[in-house]
Amino acid sequence: MSRIHNFSAGPCTLPLEVLQAAAADFVDYQKMGMSLIEMSHRTKTVEAVHNGALSGVKEILGVPDTHQVLFLGGGATMQFAMVAMNLLHGGKSADYSNSGAWAKKAIEDAKKIGKVNVTFDDKANNYSTLPDPASIKVTEGASFYHLTSNETIGGIQWQSFPNLNVPIVADMSSDFMSRPIPFERFGLIYAGAQKNLGPAGVEVTIIRKDILEQCPDTDKLPGYLSYKPHARENSMANTPPVFQIWMIKLVTDWLKRKGGLQWAASQAQKRSDIVYDAIAKHGGFYRSPVQQSVRSKMNVVWRLPTEALEDQFVKEATKAQLDGLKGHRSVGGCRASIYNAMTVEGTQALAQFMDEFAKKNG
Ligand SMILES: Cc1ncc(COP(=O)(O)O)c(C=O)c1O
Repeated sequence: MSRIHNFSAGPCTLPLEVLQAAAADFVDYQKMGMSLIEMSHRTKTVEAVHNGALSGVKEILGVPDTHQVLFLGGGATMQFAMVAMNLLHGGKSADYSNSGAWAKKAIEDAKKIGKVNVTFDDKANNYSTLPDPASIKVTEGASFYHLTSNETIGGIQWQSFPNLNVPIVADMSSDFMSRPIPFERFGLIYAGAQKNLGPAGVEVTIIRKDILEQCPDTDKLPGYLSYKPHARENSMANTPPVFQIWMIKLVTDWLKRKGGLQWAASQAQKRSDIVYDAIAKHGGFYRSPVQQSVRSKMNVVWRLPTEALEDQFVKEATKAQLDGLKGHRSVGGCRASIYNAMTVEGTQALAQFMDEFAKKNG
């Protein structure tokens, strides 16, 4: 079997060991005569996998007892609305920073539900910068500050988080589990699984318990859309996405074996350095549209002199087994998504290809 280098933004490459472990166990789970995804979610076997995945996330991130981890459906997209329905209930307001495509979606949905102050919007610079965390002033009366820790499309990432007088609520979909989180600053974190955690179809929400306490219950919100029943039922208020949660269990086991968050952060630094160095090496040919201090370690974006050259680059790269390098259709250009399961060798192969392409076409 030959595996290509997959730079797709999500769904994306997953650790080979994880895929193999799942394949080996898929049809006949631990010699029980059926697949895990055929078993009732109320069995001890599924419960053990479910709890193993929850504790894997907790252990790797060092989630303190002040916060609860939930697995929910609907992707990170549903959290755009669910955060607002639960945290802006009763006429509350919040500050949101608009750092690009994903922040914008969070803002649009929250605005339909509650009062939103957009306190930063970098449209004028085409979403290439972020606020200085030290200079953020929260609007009086705002109950939280929402940010998108990594803009998957724009390739822009908060390098450090602000220390504010209100809790931060963050969409961490595309850099979850790639670096430590100062939980004491966060009221709620949400992340779709399909980057660093597993397949699409499950999402992780980590909510501070005192904030959870204040959320409306199912008498005020439709059952699924209130955080409370999910928290009470240990994320089994309805039938959970068992396959996806099983994959999270295997991915967290893998990450623990590798060395956890320290390892993930150091690999992210290595991989992103390799790709940004390749861009800088041919500075006149490749160009990053993102201000240097906020360049993402997960999604590296760059432009070539013409769109025709960008097309050619992507086509030739695909032939060279470097897949998924086309930028998002809304912004064009090129993008390499280099999540936890992307190897350093994969990014080295990309850098070598970039070097050769620039020499031939520059
Ligand atoms: C930063 C960010 N937020 C939200 C989403 C939406 O996630 P989902 O497709 O799981 O709803 C994505 C998807 O790529 C994303 O990258």
